[in-house]
Amino acid sequence: MERLKSVEAMARWRRTAAGSIGFVPTMGFLHEGHLSLVRRARAENQSVVVSIFVNPTQFGPTEDFTAYPRDLRRDLAELDREGVTAVFIPSLDAIYPAEYSTYVSVERLTERWESASRPGHFRGVATVVLKLFNIVRPDRAYFGQKDYQQLQVVRQMIKDLNVPIAIVGCPIIREPDGLAMSSRNAYLSFGERQAAGVLYRALKAAEERYRVGERNAEQIRRAMEDVLSAELQAQTDYVAVADPETLEPLERIDERGAVCCLAVRIGKTRLIDNLLLGAR
Ligand code: PAJ
Repeated sequence: MERLKSVEAMARWRRTAAGSIGFVPTMGFLHEGHLSLVRRARAENQSVVVSIFVNPTQFGPTEDFTAYPRDLRRDLAELDREGVTAVFIPSLDAIYPAEYSTYVSVERLTERWESASRPGHFRGVATVVLKLFNIVRPDRAYFGQKDYQQLQVVRQMIKDLNVPIAIVGCPIIREPDGLAMSSRNAYLSFGERQAAGVLYRALKAAEERYRVGERNAEQIRRAMEDVLSAELQAQTDYVAVADPETLEPLERIDERGAVCCLAVRIGKTRLIDNLLLGAR
């Protein structure tokens, strides 16, 4: 496995790479969710590039950029074991040199949900993802549905800016109690970890209401709120039933289906999750 630490080293490697390239951008502290993207990329491409870069521009001033969990040695061992071709591990300076001035801002899709609590978050995500795409120049890039709004924002960006890369959305990998795997789960104390199961229980309550025929979005939203409010350690940030493509809130769910999204604080840790309803 090649370890590429500069943009120049990445470009040099890229010039010699033959066949299709699958790319998995990450912020490291890898878990089975990340590895599921790597395995999918391996199955569909000759080479797989994974980037590890904790991107400061997508963190707010009061967020956890410096505290974000890191374990590069373990990450590299895992990726090596998965048969990854090359890892791109740029320094902060390599991505954002002192005179850095250009940002990508995707409109509309970023008006709600995560953006309300994390202003500027998707501007940072879109900027770094486009930079990484331009540096790695993959054929396909793999993203988890775990970050559903992020996936839609990336899809919109590559469409709007004519970026010739196929975006592949991959299913959410969960713990046995349904909690979506996340690097941030490492912040949870034992008691908080028990409480965190409430996110998935809320989503399953929504799914059950949909299964028995409920199509009123507010009723489904309330079903999720009811489950969340029963867990005293959980503080709801938002609960939404939205159009799966535009992410606009719905009144009724039709044949386009819906995405149920939620963001919940357990202690100091903010967790997100989502579930698609309907034929998709
Ligand atoms: P990070 O949180 O490290 O996630 C990297 C990729 O792994 C994302 O596409 C995310 O959706 C996916 N992922 C995380 N948890 C998952 C799970 N439980 N199941 C399936 N996929 C999962 O998302 C980012 O980094 C950054 O915003 C990034 C795109 C790298 C830009 O900085």
